[in-house]
Amino acid sequence: MPLGRGVFRKKLVLVDHRRETHAIAFQLIAPDQMPFSAQHNPGSLDDRGRQLYLKLDPGVWLVLRPYQQVQAGTAHISAAEWADLFVVAPVTANLLGKVAAGISDDALTTTLCAYSGPVMLAPAMNSNMYLNPVTKKNLAFLRSIGYTIIDPEEGEMACHTVGIGRMAEPEAIFSRIAAFLSEKKTPKRKSRAKPPAETDTAFALAGRKVIVTAGPCREKLDPVRYISNYSSGRMGYALAAAARGAGADVTLISGPTELAPPDNVAFIAVESTSDMLEAVMAHIDSADALLMAAAPADYAPLNVAAEKIKKHDSALHLELAPTADILKQVAKRKHPGLAVVGFALETENLIENATRKLKDKTLDMIVANSAAQSGSGPGALSNQATIISDSGQITELPLMPKRELADKIITLLAEKIRQPQIK
Ligand code: CTP
Repeated sequence: MPLGRGVFRKKLVLVDHRRETHAIAFQLIAPDQMPFSAQHNPGSLDDRGRQLYLKLDPGVWLVLRPYQQVQAGTAHISAAEWADLFVVAPVTANLLGKVAAGISDDALTTTLCAYSGPVMLAPAMNSNMYLNPVTKKNLAFLRSIGYTIIDPEEGEMACHTVGIGRMAEPEAIFSRIAAFLSEKKTPKRKSRAKPPAETDTAFALAGRKVIVTAGPCREKLDPVRYISNYSSGRMGYALAAAARGAGADVTLISGPTELAPPDNVAFIAVESTSDMLEAVMAHIDSADALLMAAAPADYAPLNVAAEKIKKHDSALHLELAPTADILKQVAKRKHPGLAVVGFALETENLIENATRKLKDKTLDMIVANSAAQSGSGPGALSNQATIISDSGQITELPLMPKRELADKIITLLAEKIRQPQIK
């Protein structure tokens, strides 16, 4: 991965949670500043045990220079003010619970609590602990407030069980760090006194009724099978949290996902595209905005088999019928005060296809993202989007966590709602 020179001016706190009492902040320096001896001894500390040299990919070095021992006094505050990124790996279920609850009872959690910039956490724990609903809720909450979670992988763990929960490979974690720090825009540190939702969007949608759809739809094939897609629901859930943060009265209509709904949001669980259509139509007349982030199915089996379809040696032909397009149905009875935002995931001709959908579905805004962009799209924690408005305004945004993108969409939506042609 090519790293721009700017990356080496960025600083990060990188914490190995297993040695949390030795939490150290590091600064990246350019590979050409690396001593000759270290080039032959990658992954090593220098003579004084203070510099760490790591080889990421062939030809790419990250050189990490200890900035500060985090031990006592107010060191946690200065480390928290100094860093551009805070990475913790591995993150245990216990640490996750403490961070989600705001508990600060050691050097690591105190520093993290005092830190207001971007955070990456790489969980690692036994599968049962990882799949525990409490852990899932903590992960969902931390994601909803903008933390980047580097998902664990399947494999053998320290307890010798095999399953999901093994920490992502260090190389994968460093690639995420390098990709993040290489982004053109330097992540701004945010003041704790004014968290992002309050700074940009607080009260922007106060008193407004907002419907958000999220997740995939499932179309039944027989009693044990369905057709669906890879949508995780993360973008829709982030939008629901962002709209709620902006003071809106939010109804989240969601297909099946692994996520916990944000707090203080009315939640309607649906399964098929026709269920979702029905739920949207039941709420649309009193709504000020619809954010259609769900991935409904375009086709559903024409006939649902009453019994399990049995296996045969010959090919199986399924007959599929088009489902209703929810946005087109909404357009037919759109009242003048309703702002409608669509989403377009494209594998080619992004702007052209998204602009066509904006017009065909009578949208006020469409959020387009390319399935070809790595780190973006269904299942990813971040998204790289281009927002096209019906006035022709095109806003191209960099890759960012879905929660941050959600705040930007909500800001643009609030501006639209204030415009007279919508009201
Ligand atoms: N959408 C909808 N009803 C459907 C399918 C999609 O309301 N039955 C909405 C999506 O929620 C999204 C927008 O339409 O906000 C665009 O969805 P997308 O899947 O990108 O486009 P399609 O219209 O399905 O067209 P294609 O699959 O050919 O790209």
